[in-house]
Amino acid sequence: MAFATAQPRVTTLVRVKSVALSRFAKPLVFGLSLIPFCWLLYAAIANQLGANPAEALSRATGDWTLRFLCVVLAVTPLRVITGMSALARFRRMLGLFVYFYAVLHLLSYGWFDMGFELADMAKDIAKRPFILVGFSAFMLLTPLALTSFNRAIKTLGAKRWQRLHQLIYGVACLAVLHFFWMRAGKNNFAEVYFYAVILAALLGWRMFKFVRTNRI
Ligand code: HEM
Repeated sequence: MAFATAQPRVTTLVRVKSVALSRFAKPLVFGLSLIPFCWLLYAAIANQLGANPAEALSRATGDWTLRFLCVVLAVTPLRVITGMSALARFRRMLGLFVYFYAVLHLLSYGWFDMGFELADMAKDIAKRPFILVGFSAFMLLTPLALTSFNRAIKTLGAKRWQRLHQLIYGVACLAVLHFFWMRAGKNNFAEVYFYAVILAALLGWRMFKFVRTNRI
């Protein structure tokens, strides 16, 4: 009886594995990851961003940076739990999408809030702690994006590259703090807690694994 129920599950898993392995999977994930950008572009052009389009764009790009951060941090736990090693193929691309949405977020802040006045931006970053925290997260993300290519792995060596890319855990903590601080003025924390719980689970899984096997 147990075999009868396990069989379709195994078949589904094999099918999911072969889709993940197929050559269409990467372009598909790439296309899906671009949907938020295309939607925001369309909404901006079609005047669909509501009463305050600048704020809507800043917020949406911040939200998508955080969502992609959750997705990229979910790849390894999913890979280990399901045994689908093919999932690792998407990690680099998803990581670059975190950076892509973070750049859009920084650009919308720089453009709409600061009119690209670099001196004003520097003053604002130093003056407002939540912006400083967001900017620090962005600064930590930058070396990860710059070294996400095979040649960088070769140059740095796998161990040093891996250690550098553990900065992503710091980015996750700073991102939640940035979001928390930004919402503190409005006393509106529901979404902050939602992302904080997801990221805590994803980082907690790694800590648990590290304690058990001494490897992240
Ligand atoms: C990894 C980097 C970052 C992440 C994950 C992130 C995430 C977020 C999130 C989730 C929000 C709230 C959106 C909402 O209320 O729905 C937000 C708001 C904001 N972030 Fe970031 N952020 C990052 C970096 C930055 C940087 C580098 C800056 C500027 C230097 C920045 C400036 C802002 C501003 C000004 C807001 C408020 C937008 C508004 O209310 O108009 N963030 N960010």
